Amino acid sequence: MKKRVAILISGGGSNMVALVRSMQAENYAQPVLVLANDPKASGLEKAKDLGVPVTAIDHLPFGKDRKAFEAQVMRTLEAARPDIICLAGFMRVLSPEFVDHWQNKILNIHPSLLPKYKGLNTHARAIQAGDTQAGCSVHMVTAKLDDGPILGQATVPILPGDTANDLATRILPYEHQLYPLVLKKFTAGDQMQIILP
Ligand code: GRF
Repeated sequence: MKKRVAILISGGGSNMVALVRSMQAENYAQPVLVLANDPKASGLEKAKDLGVPVTAIDHLPFGKDRKAFEAQVMRTLEAARPDIICLAGFMRVLSPEFVDHWQNKILNIHPSLLPKYKGLNTHARAIQAGDTQAGCSVHMVTAKLDDGPILGQATVPILPGDTANDLATRILPYEHQLYPLVLKKFTAGDQMQIILP
């Protein structure tokens, strides 16, 4: 049976598009749901155009009640029966309880060469630190933020005068190449690290 994959997004969903196109082209898994925490996420339209069921659970009405928001996300995900959940530009931190419920079935793409620069503003921090390289990482999601086992990385040079935007633009195509490669291997139970280029 093909693995069922749910994808969580918050915005444009360019990584989601890359994952869905890869699954549809190579048939190694089935995208069963795209879920956004923002009803206005433009990635929802893209998912619909690709024929993937979508839903939005706006986190704003829940205010600080993260548990209630997660409970609704949990119910929606359980109905979709995913074998794997891919976080793709998903900007909500998930609780340890949520992560443990899906025990090692959640992947995430993070725009840095983990373990460096967990959290936000990764490109600006790499430039600020005078690094000569930056990149992105796909990792298993564990209770600690951006801390799980690394399944793949892509590295790009930081060039003199680069802004954070320049770096994000240079790295994004590698995200779109790396994440589907990692997902495909992950569905086959292969956790050998992928290093690009
Ligand atoms: C990307 O930089 C990704 O690394 C980060 O969110 C950004 C937007 O991703 N997680 P997407 O276009 O919404 O997939």
